[in-house]
Amino acid sequence: MIYHDVVVVGGGLAGLRAAIELNRHNVKVAIISKVHPIRSHSVAAQGGINAPLGNHPRGVYDSWKKHAFDTVKGSDYLADQDAVVRMTKEADERIYEMEHWGCPFSRTAEGKIAQRPFGGAGFPRTCYAADKTGHALLHILYQQTIKFKQAAERNEIVIYEEWLVTDLVIEDGVCVGVIALDIVSGRLETFQAGAVIFATGGAGRVYGSSTNALINTGMGMAVPYWAGVPLKDMEFIQFHPTTLLGKNILITEGCRGEGGFLLNNKGERFLAKYNDSKKDMEVAPRDIISRNIKREIMTGGGFDNSYVHLDLRHLGEEKIIQRLPGIRDICMEFVGVDPVTTLIPIQPGQHYTMGGIDCNTECETIVKGFYAAGEAACVSVHGANRLGGNSLLDTIVFGTIAGCNAARYVQNSSGKKGEDTLNDALKRTEQRIDALYKSGGNEVPANIKVALNKVMDNKVGIFREASQLKEAFNEVKDLQERYKQIKLNYTGRRVNLSLAWALELKGDLDVADAVIAGALAREESRGSHFRTDFPKRDDTGWLKHTRVYFTSDGVRLDYKPVNIGPFEPKERRY
Ligand code: FUM
Repeated sequence: MIYHDVVVVGGGLAGLRAAIELNRHNVKVAIISKVHPIRSHSVAAQGGINAPLGNHPRGVYDSWKKHAFDTVKGSDYLADQDAVVRMTKEADERIYEMEHWGCPFSRTAEGKIAQRPFGGAGFPRTCYAADKTGHALLHILYQQTIKFKQAAERNEIVIYEEWLVTDLVIEDGVCVGVIALDIVSGRLETFQAGAVIFATGGAGRVYGSSTNALINTGMGMAVPYWAGVPLKDMEFIQFHPTTLLGKNILITEGCRGEGGFLLNNKGERFLAKYNDSKKDMEVAPRDIISRNIKREIMTGGGFDNSYVHLDLRHLGEEKIIQRLPGIRDICMEFVGVDPVTTLIPIQPGQHYTMGGIDCNTECETIVKGFYAAGEAACVSVHGANRLGGNSLLDTIVFGTIAGCNAARYVQNSSGKKGEDTLNDALKRTEQRIDALYKSGGNEVPANIKVALNKVMDNKVGIFREASQLKEAFNEVKDLQERYKQIKLNYTGRRVNLSLAWALELKGDLDVADAVIAGALAREESRGSHFRTDFPKRDDTGWLKHTRVYFTSDGVRLDYKPVNIGPFEPKERRY
């Protein structure tokens, strides 16, 4: 049995930032990550990170309060306002910390951190490193996690990379550790810990058309869900307006922030036709733009019934090369289009899970000693629709908070706990994996995954309605039954990715179930959740968070109030 004071699961921005904070508090911390940390999906974030620095040369005044208001309004008033206030008040400090650690932010002519407009703000609040902001931030944090490796005077942060956490272990309402599979050796190991932080990222790959990396499965949310921790607001799935046709690679909102246009098949900036996007046009919030792109395509304004164009040509070669070099590379590499001279074919695609592990502003869950941060968590700062640029901020603000609180918790609690419970959990998981190795079933896991992706893309998308959601619910039930008959296509122990994917597929199915159950129950439209059969927001009935529990009889839902702070819910007009 391995022991660490705190185990952080996930090596992306939130996980690394949490580990650094724990290390600063002199706590012995280990990170367990499915991939090498700099391969985490945070690396793919492009356009930027919000903070009310007010650095724009035109001297736009900004403040945490304006940032908080925009975030709450963008969330369609479902965000918890105590959490939003906390995040926006800490934003500047976290950005300057990243700057001082060496983040190569793009700069204004006076040398300040440059900011560009993103949706929902109306002026430049999004700090960026060209269009590779996640890449820059992740490498900076990774540097900070490894810098004590050789230093005698400070604990090192231990990193277990290419390990898959299979179980969260809880004894009498207290978290005592996790079980994890070393993918390379095929060995299961017990990690006893004084506290555990989950920062495992989003579950985007329950969908097929997604900007997410293939590693973003439902597993990170499913593991605590299976252990009894509720998930929150899972029905709120963000669809990014601009993903590359057919590949669904992210084409950053920064393109529109820099002045790019969305054009229909007549070459018109069609967002002007729709009431909710005619004022802010290409920098309206994502839920609104994604719906209006879909509407335009459905009413014959698209190409091949599947896409519209993003036009960057008028920005000019110099600006494109300086501010959007990655986008140019992606377009040339994947669809043979140079945005300097040619229109980019784009379509909306799944991008972010606003929901996640239910936790409060301190990143605490219902289980003592178990914390969550980043996209895996639902604090909730994003409510029903996240503003672009707030996810990176969420990771480093709440990563820090989770680390700080877990450190205090372990420093005030006594000794190692839960050996017997951990050993029992290990045995159960060994048996589960053994059963998979020996399965005489005939179902191919990849076929189940493809079928799941199809259900989610086609029936739980931008526009939803009861009959399709019911079909989706039943189809996922069938897939869960078929899962019981899966057979691994490779049965070696070492580097058995077929085993890892089979374990994760169960997480995908159960998390998809939670998304659909929440979406079916919520009979209103709010933010990213648009019900064509209930097209209006209903604050009387539905200004509340959905919580979903895993039970042996299927999902159970309950609801909890939204924390309303300085901003009274109003109709969301843009
Ligand atoms: O469009 C983008 O660059 C994505 C940013 C985000 O999701 O915050």
